[in-house]
Amino acid sequence: MLVAGVDVGSTQTKGVVIDDDRRILGRGITDTGARLAEAGDAAFRLALEGAGVARDDVDFVIGTGYGRFRVEFGDAQVTEISCHARGAAHLFPRTRTVLDVGGQDTKAIKVGKGGEVLDFCMNDKCSAGTGRFLSAASDALEIPLGELGALALTARNPVNVTTTCTVFAESEILGWLARGRRTEDVVMGVHQAIAARSFSLLARVGVEPELTFTGGVARNQAMVALIGELTDLRVNASEDTHYCGAVGAALYALDRLLVGAPAAGEGSALR
Ligand SMILES: Nc1ncnc2c1ncn2[C@@H]1O[C@H](COP(=O)(O)OP(=O)(O)OP(=O)(O)O)[C@@H](O)[C@H]1O
Ligand SMILES: [Mg+2]
Repeated sequence: MLVAGVDVGSTQTKGVVIDDDRRILGRGITDTGARLAEAGDAAFRLALEGAGVARDDVDFVIGTGYGRFRVEFGDAQVTEISCHARGAAHLFPRTRTVLDVGGQDTKAIKVGKGGEVLDFCMNDKCSAGTGRFLSAASDALEIPLGELGALALTARNPVNVTTTCTVFAESEILGWLARGRRTEDVVMGVHQAIAARSFSLLARVGVEPELTFTGGVARNQAMVALIGELTDLRVNASEDTHYCGAVGAALYALDRLLVGAPAAGEGSALR
């Protein structure tokens, strides 16, 4: 039996195929762009290729994320909060708190033993403190996103980034450079600003170990280190935690086949 989860995020779309032993057989990722349905289709196709299976071999597909209702081949939808919690509890079974930092939203989620959502808190409409802030820094400094974290970790005297708005991030970054501050110190200042915002969301739900960091920003080693310092916890993070929402969606799809019960939050218009 094979199932899939497709997480159409605001920035990147992720897909996974899993089997009935809950093993991840294939992963796919693509930029979301403006065509949400096409992005969902592309990520699913890549996940199928990775698994070496055909579309018809997959028995149930659940869509999640911001564009989940555009997963046209999907059989149901589940909110991304539920999917991140479920996926995190699968990848790291002792998870009690999830921090998901994506391209547009940051969410802190308190989870129960079975990966159920007990409480959550997210950023307001403003994208400060999300991956978008890092993308703005990457564009302003012309440094690839994947290199920012390693560069930040070489900082010795980080600047205090005060802007709370992504729109003004670029001018603040360029302003610090014009004042002669080192690039790595500016980059670390940007990371610290995001980490501080994430920590304030975590504090609102209460941080209990283990803490699992999900979303694309969990691939950034400086962010993982900073969240670890602020919470005084060892942080679970891996390349697969970027796929956490898709993994959770696939697990809900498996439930539908094995138990037949709809998931909590299934079909909900909420996040
Ligand atoms: N290799 C990488 N190294 C560092 N950061 C990365 C990497 N890949 C992606 N990111 C970051 O992850 C972000 C996208 O994360 P993710 O896919 O979780 O977002 P999303 O699900 O589309 O957004 P949201 O959940 O807010 O709707 C990018 O904006 C970028 O900042
Ligand atoms: Mg997301």
